[in-house]
Amino acid sequence: VREEVRNLEYPEYASDISKSNLLGNYVFSQDKELIDKISNYIGTKPDQIIITAGCDGALRIIAETFISKNDNVLMPCPTFGRYEFHTKMMGGNCIFLYFDEPFEFNLDKVKETIKERNIKILFLCNPNNPTGHYISQDDIEDFVKNVNCLIVIDEALADYLGETASKLIDRFPNIIVTRTFSKFFMLASLRIGYIIVSEKLKPFLMKVISPFEVSSYSIERAKEVLSENIKPTKTVPIKLVKGSVDGVDGNNFRGLEGRDYKRVFMGIL
Ligand SMILES: Cc1ncc(COP(=O)(O)O)c(C=O)c1O
Repeated sequence: VREEVRNLEYPEYASDISKSNLLGNYVFSQDKELIDKISNYIGTKPDQIIITAGCDGALRIIAETFISKNDNVLMPCPTFGRYEFHTKMMGGNCIFLYFDEPFEFNLDKVKETIKERNIKILFLCNPNNPTGHYISQDDIEDFVKNVNCLIVIDEALADYLGETASKLIDRFPNIIVTRTFSKFFMLASLRIGYIIVSEKLKPFLMKVISPFEVSSYSIERAKEVLSENIKPTKTVPIKLVKGSVDGVDGNNFRGLEGRDYKRVFMGIL
């Protein structure tokens, strides 16, 4: 039987990766070559990167590692629904912070709430899904200087801007950034993303993540898209409008280009 299995032919769709037997083996997900490519692309140290099953997989691992029963977890709203899901799965309390104006994202109010409600973790989506609101890196830096809780910055949509808060991690080790190949790189069904985290917090996450979190096929495809030398801000036409991202042709923002995005969004609410 072993002999027969060895001689099995791969189906045509997998023929390009069959030579290295990538599909047949368990392959450790923390692939050094991909980590080096990500590190090059983002401009952070390879030691600060963890490859995950998409950004959602990153959020899950972070929640499993850091959220315990009855922890207060803050999420400025409206925002991406998976923060609530992962928090509740771990028994944490979701603290939803709404602003008078959904596109405002008032960081002073976020700061106040962190102090008043004894917040352990803040989920900050930048740019925010579904509003498209973008917090500048200067504002993020001012904000983190005065905040001691764990700050998870979800940058699933940040490739469209070519900016990242991960450069702050050396100075502020309480920041964790999550990213993905699903949006700008359009590999959503391959379920591949990554976490950027300080060397201090990384070992806690590495204890929780599966060694085989991501398929070898996804790893190879992610390496390919990063080899194409893509320049984010040049390939996708985006326009910054009063601190918000307008007309991003990504999965969540499709169809808004040239329209009154604010009116469309308020209509949906
Ligand atoms: C803000 C945000 N974070 C995370 C995700 C999940 O991305 P992934 O496909 O990498 O799991 C999405 C997907 O819609 C998103 O919009």
